[in-house]
Amino acid sequence: MPLAEVILCCKSKTNWSAMTTFTETQSIVLQVNGARKNLSIEPRVSLLDALRDYLHLTGTKKGCDQGACGACTVLVDGERINSCLALAIQYEGCDIVTIEGLANAGELHPLQQAFIDQDGFQCGYCTPGQICSVVGMMTEFGKGAPSAVTKDGTANSELTEEEVRERMSGNLCRCGAYVGIRDAIKQVYGGRQQ
Ligand code: FES
Ligand code: FES
Repeated sequence: MPLAEVILCCKSKTNWSAMTTFTETQSIVLQVNGARKNLSIEPRVSLLDALRDYLHLTGTKKGCDQGACGACTVLVDGERINSCLALAIQYEGCDIVTIEGLANAGELHPLQQAFIDQDGFQCGYCTPGQICSVVGMMTEFGKGAPSAVTKDGTANSELTEEEVRERMSGNLCRCGAYVGIRDAIKQVYGGRQQ
């Protein structure tokens, strides 16, 4: 088939009206850090971009934008997620918490303070994601969710260093502040049992 014909053939099969709909803005309401936020966004906007570019909550960071680094970690209904892999429109009605929502009336969250105390960051770019991830990790740990290193039948396992390393392995720190990050977690949750 000649090239021009192939192009025409492909075009005729394309659902252009559906594609137009895909780029139309939609009104949604997100519950972020305890406040209702009205947004008018295209359905393809990620939760990360909605937070940063539309709500100007730039504490949540964009690293890889493909689910590999954890810099964009936020909490949704208490669970940690990579916001770069989530579409904002999916999260209407959910309770979203970003790093800006962890401090209480100007007082740092104990983990934020521990990261300072233990020198848990250098550039700080990964830090908001690290801290949100720890909060989510502790919820998972508290519910008894096993990790890859949890031994079979350990119902009341302790939050060991091995557990912390495994459970936080989705959050990368390119400047290598892992020792400080581990110590910060230990400062707040050391010896915690499920
Ligand atoms: S920016 Fe989302 S995982 Fe890297
Ligand atoms: S503190 Fe530099 S990447 Fe984490």
